[in-house]
Amino acid sequence: MQQKSPQPTVKERISADTITRQIIPSAILAPSAHNTQPWKFKALSNTIDIYIDWSRHLTVSDPTLRQLYVSLGCATTNAINAAKYWNKTAAVQYFPEGNGKNQPVVRLTFAPANKPIDHNQTEADIFAAIVQRHTNRSFFDEKTLTDDETTILNQSLDHNIATFISDRSKLEKIADISHEGTFSTLSRPEFKEELSRWVRNSWTYQHDGMPGYAMGIPAPLSLVAPMMVRIAPIHIQEASKTKQQVTSASAVAVFSTATDTPVDHIRAGQQLQQVWLNATAAGLAAMPVVAAIEAGAEFRSQVRDVVQAKPFTQSMLRIGHSSKTNLRATPRRTLDECLR
Ligand SMILES: Cc1cc2nc3c(=O)[nH]c(=O)nc-3n(C[C@H](O)[C@H](O)[C@H](O)COP(=O)(O)O)c2cc1C
Repeated sequence: MQQKSPQPTVKERISADTITRQIIPSAILAPSAHNTQPWKFKALSNTIDIYIDWSRHLTVSDPTLRQLYVSLGCATTNAINAAKYWNKTAAVQYFPEGNGKNQPVVRLTFAPANKPIDHNQTEADIFAAIVQRHTNRSFFDEKTLTDDETTILNQSLDHNIATFISDRSKLEKIADISHEGTFSTLSRPEFKEELSRWVRNSWTYQHDGMPGYAMGIPAPLSLVAPMMVRIAPIHIQEASKTKQQVTSASAVAVFSTATDTPVDHIRAGQQLQQVWLNATAAGLAAMPVVAAIEAGAEFRSQVRDVVQAKPFTQSMLRIGHSSKTNLRATPRRTLDECLR
């Protein structure tokens, strides 16, 4: 159904230029599946519309668009947190002009927060986390989260969607399902072919995709990484790595919803990114683990049975302590490349 945007008064108007400079660069830093950055932004006075960039849809690994919408949700959360930092409120509408292929998916409407600029510690920490956040694929140390870490992780969350699993026996089960899911997806030649198109060497000048350094591949080897992904039987090794990645975590945040619509996928993405920013602000490392969700319905229902939250599991994020703290940022498209 079409939703009407709140109309700002002239006095409250925030120019498209201000929004473009203050908010969109933060949205662009969001994580996305295979670093496809499947978004385009359009700023008008007081609003940003977020569109799908269809040329970046992973048709093999993400036929339902779930991961694409989750990625747009991540960008939405970055935009909302940047707005808070710049003393603005942000109202979110989903599919404000209907759900046609080229209509905006998310509309953010900003207004001055009408409070003196007084960045409290949380807002500043979360804003800093937008830049500091990276996907950490190293093995974590399994240590239990401290009370302080748990408090920070739980800030500004919708607990109808986000659930934390730290029980060891449940983590082991999620690890086993993720092992099977990785084994299954990486056994599919068409999945590997698509993945290989987004794997880059460590000296890449391209503005998207995953460079070898982000995946722990030594620089010289990264030159042949796309070919290795395509032709080598990587499923056995990658499946056991995924298992260890999950078992070495202190917790897995699971994002699940009562229904399974695009809006649910976006909302799950918003929560995923909020947990990830909170984790970063708490000095914790994190990495999404979606193999068990995208490998097929049977894997997804196994996760649901372990987690015992809402019926539709949309994404998972493993969280923990890592000794690898000096991770390099992955590339991003420029502001101009992301504007519509
Ligand atoms: C929806 C979504 C799914 C992802 N799935 C995985 C995954 O299964 N395994 C993984 O190692 N990284 C995964 N990632 C992390 C992306 O590869 C990563 O965000 C991207 O390469 C950009 O790197 P950065 O997060 O360090 O900025 C996922 C990210 C998103 C948003």
